[in-house]
Amino acid sequence: IANSVFLLRFYALMAAPIVNKEYLQEIEKARRDLRALIYSKNCAPIMLRVAWHDAGTYDARTRNGIPGGPNGSIRNKVELNHSANKGLETAVQICEEVKAKHPKITYADLYQEVLLMAKSALRPTEVMQFDKTLNLAGVVAVEITGGPSINFVPGRKDSNQSPPEGRLPDAKLGASHLREVFYRMGLSDKDIVVLSGGHTLGKANKRSGFEGPWTKEPWKFDNSYFVELLEGQTEGLLQLPTDKALVEDPVFHRYVELYAKDNDAFFRDYAVSHKKLSELGFTQP
Ligand code: HEM
Repeated sequence: IANSVFLLRFYALMAAPIVNKEYLQEIEKARRDLRALIYSKNCAPIMLRVAWHDAGTYDARTRNGIPGGPNGSIRNKVELNHSANKGLETAVQICEEVKAKHPKITYADLYQEVLLMAKSALRPTEVMQFDKTLNLAGVVAVEITGGPSINFVPGRKDSNQSPPEGRLPDAKLGASHLREVFYRMGLSDKDIVVLSGGHTLGKANKRSGFEGPWTKEPWKFDNSYFVELLEGQTEGLLQLPTDKALVEDPVFHRYVELYAKDNDAFFRDYAVSHKKLSELGFTQP
């Protein structure tokens, strides 16, 4: 009996959730809880990062191995202990609070919803602007403060199999490493540059071997990351070797220039790449 209970639990975990009216209502409620938590704990950057690190292990070429991707596996101790994931226990713990209240929602959906919710920390006018562009890109419905209605596509399966360590990018390396990692996910040069714009939020902490924010307003989601990249090194601001590679590589450079001068183009392209990242290996149920 114990064995069959274990197996049932195992299969329930591996199965895709049934995305019915109830599931969608639960997503809606979880979204409100996430929003409140992100506001009260002021933790948008780390929440964005945990979602990216869950998704960013994806290997599109895996045949028999572990594909990785946005499947909630980052919650496993073994994966949280990967050196690239230092500090992310806090984010996983915060998500546990929401999971406990909404157990039906898969971890995979929860983390990726967090990715969309990271913008909750923006000021109302910025939220409006962000949502408008996301909506234009067909990713997210207009959502103005109070009435959460992000067009988030749920239905991701959870996996309890963690991919091997080393699939996330190493900040000490350069352009060819970035291409190797992102191409493995099936992403493009444009995706690499625009998603790196996620560094508009938050900061590095000593534990990673780097320190400091990338921009002067690390709580504001805008194109200042790209403006700073073109400015060169500014005292008090960080540029990782992988960030610098975006300026040095001629193909990446063209996108950096575009996003530095055109915030709308950044928002539009970010929305598209962000959706791709959150849906790697995911086919809508
Ligand atoms: C933080 C590396 C791409 C979002 C960091 C940190 C490193 C890093 C070393 C500091 C971590 C710490 O000290 O705790 C990289 C590399 C990337 C990359 C090498 C390759 C392109 C991305 C992407 C996103 C992202 C694609 C999201 C779309 C963030 C955020 C933080 C961060 C929001 C700040 C977290 C916080 O304040 O707690 N990244 N990252 N990064 N990264 Fe990235």
